[in-house]
Amino acid sequence: MTAGHRIIVPLDVSSREEAIALLDRLPDVEFWKVGLELFVSTGPSILDELKQRHKRIFLDLKFHDIPNTMAGACRAAGRYGVDLLTVHGVAGRTALQRALEAAREGAESVGLSPPNLLAITLLTSLNSRDLAFDLKVPVELPEYTLQMALLAQESGIQGAVCSPQEATQLRRVCGDEFLLVCPGVRPTWAEGGDQRRVMTPQEALKAGASYLVIGRPITAATDPQGAWRRIIDELTG
Ligand code: C5P
Repeated sequence: MTAGHRIIVPLDVSSREEAIALLDRLPDVEFWKVGLELFVSTGPSILDELKQRHKRIFLDLKFHDIPNTMAGACRAAGRYGVDLLTVHGVAGRTALQRALEAAREGAESVGLSPPNLLAITLLTSLNSRDLAFDLKVPVELPEYTLQMALLAQESGIQGAVCSPQEATQLRRVCGDEFLLVCPGVRPTWAEGGDQRRVMTPQEALKAGASYLVIGRPITAATDPQGAWRRIIDELTG
């Protein structure tokens, strides 16, 4: 896979117009992430736009519901022909298994390849204190994220979203085939923003990431296409 195939840029905007402007400014980006804000604003028409431009799609809607509802949502997402789709690991084994089956059925019903499902292990906005005191989870945070990734893997889910710091351990425990998609990536020349524990693109790939999600260093740059090129050059050069 080339470096460009491994970088996913989030369409973190709230309207179709802004999304299209970003797509136009970054013609070389092949893989885009659509999250809750944009999807709720535009509905699936933004996915059609991406498809028309022959882009790959990471639909990051983080489904978490009862098995029947997860299955229904994943069946519908499978019919869109997206490449990656997120579900919360904490939805549990049955919901994860049903989600996977339904996403496959949805895609196959329209002659498309099924998406790879990715588990959210624990939202990075939650820290050890939240886990222990508010959620009453009696295990340490690294152990918890590892257990959630293993639950997802045992349920057939193809990968997980994790911070680059967790990638080394997850790669070792979950094996080479498990997809690890890492946000929290910053080139040395970019601002950290609100991301706390960051790694450079080179470090994150070396740690075992399959894909990197890199947003503001590219999308908020004065010259987004130049920032994208610089990242690709640093990875290939
Ligand atoms: O701009 P930045 O590179 O921080 O964007 C990272 C993207 O990855 C955003 O869309 C953000 O919502 C998402 N994300 C994250 N941390 C997670 C999960 C998703 O930053 N743990």
